[in-house]
Amino acid sequence: MSEHFRVQGGARLVGEVDVVGAKNSVLKLMAAALLAEGTTTITNCPEILDVPLMADVLRSLGCEVTIEGDVATITTPAELNHRADSEAMGKLRASVCVLGPLVGRCKRAVVALPGGDAIGSRPLDMHQNGLRKLGAHSEIEHGCVVAEAEGLHGAQIWLDFPSVGATENILMAAVLAEGTTIIDNAAREPEIIDICVMLQEMGAKIEGAGTSTLTVQGVQSLRPTQHRVVGDRIVGATWAFAAAMTRGDIRVRGVNPHHLDLVLEKLRMAGAQVTTFEGGEDEGFRVVMEGRPRSVDFVTLPYPGFATDLQPFAIALSTVSEGTSMITENLFEARFRFIEEMQRLGADARTDGHHAVVRGIERLSSAPVWASDIRAGAGLVLAGLCADGVTEVWEIFHVERGYPGFVENLRKLGAEVDRISD
Ligand code: UD1
Repeated sequence: MSEHFRVQGGARLVGEVDVVGAKNSVLKLMAAALLAEGTTTITNCPEILDVPLMADVLRSLGCEVTIEGDVATITTPAELNHRADSEAMGKLRASVCVLGPLVGRCKRAVVALPGGDAIGSRPLDMHQNGLRKLGAHSEIEHGCVVAEAEGLHGAQIWLDFPSVGATENILMAAVLAEGTTIIDNAAREPEIIDICVMLQEMGAKIEGAGTSTLTVQGVQSLRPTQHRVVGDRIVGATWAFAAAMTRGDIRVRGVNPHHLDLVLEKLRMAGAQVTTFEGGEDEGFRVVMEGRPRSVDFVTLPYPGFATDLQPFAIALSTVSEGTSMITENLFEARFRFIEEMQRLGADARTDGHHAVVRGIERLSSAPVWASDIRAGAGLVLAGLCADGVTEVWEIFHVERGYPGFVENLRKLGAEVDRISD
């Protein structure tokens, strides 16, 4: 790919930015539409590549899907194709989320092992174990997860770890199982609450959304619905870090500030002034940083801990902060590959196992760098804004999978960033 971003360092980012629906929610909500025959409408969809890719996955299963602006309309037939092994499956991680709905609706599924970011080992054992508890047989065969059940029944399921994807898949199968399912040590992310709300609107009986125990009373069938995707807290946090790193002043709209309580607290500790706005159209926050940020430690953990998706921004901020920061990655080991790119920019950072130690320097030094995943790519752009000279960020298709209108927003905030395609 010859496209890259050309980032001129030095600008202080100032202004307002609107954030739309979360990538990590919309794709699962689209999969949830498989659970009900008829037409489901999802609004506030982000205009990112993964949405049409997920639409292709649903089409391969027999749905009709249209995407117009921020609205996805999905018409699900009475009889679904249970084989999800189209080319689109390999291009995004969230495609695996059709597994639960297909097992729920068809009682059998063949789902190609998903693609997505190269951020470390991403096994599916918890997804499979959960489905087994509900009565399905599940194996990996010829590059696909195969699951088959005579009928699904409620069960008590303890997850080893509060996995987002496993919670979603088990939940989407359990809503159509006979009897009561309890998922213990369930994930608590805002995106999990979002899918629970949508499933409830479709007629599912779920209690405990947002807690670590989800109780699901299975129903015979679900009905289609209209649902608005929750605001993207990871994109919102990206702008918060952009303000802190460039000593800027950014007002973010469209994200519930409580979904970022810990992140905003960390930025306060780094010296930022943070104001939050609750509810209504103004919902969001403002981050203002005067002077050089102070170093802060970060530890990634499942929500409400500090999100692993934000770890590259924590590292990028630390590279230009005053003092030394320790960043601990507990979810995806390969996310530290980002540090090698930061070293090209002169960052004083080293890793030891799942810890990174970063000594802040006054200014980074521009260089060509390569994005290895969505967040790493966005983190490199923010780092480029804090470097002297022009930084080229390559492999930007990663960034474009997760950030609608990224360059436009950066330019609106006063950054000199161009997307070059030659
Ligand atoms: C989702 C997000 C991703 C985010 C992650 C953690 C999407 C499309 N992606 O990924 O951006 O970084 O949540 O917040 O929503 N694990 C197992 N066995 C399993 C499942 C997971 O060992 O069966 C492990 C993983 O290797 C990882 C940890 O559990 O170490 C968390 O993974 P999980 O929460 O499942 O992440 P995803 O749903 O893949």
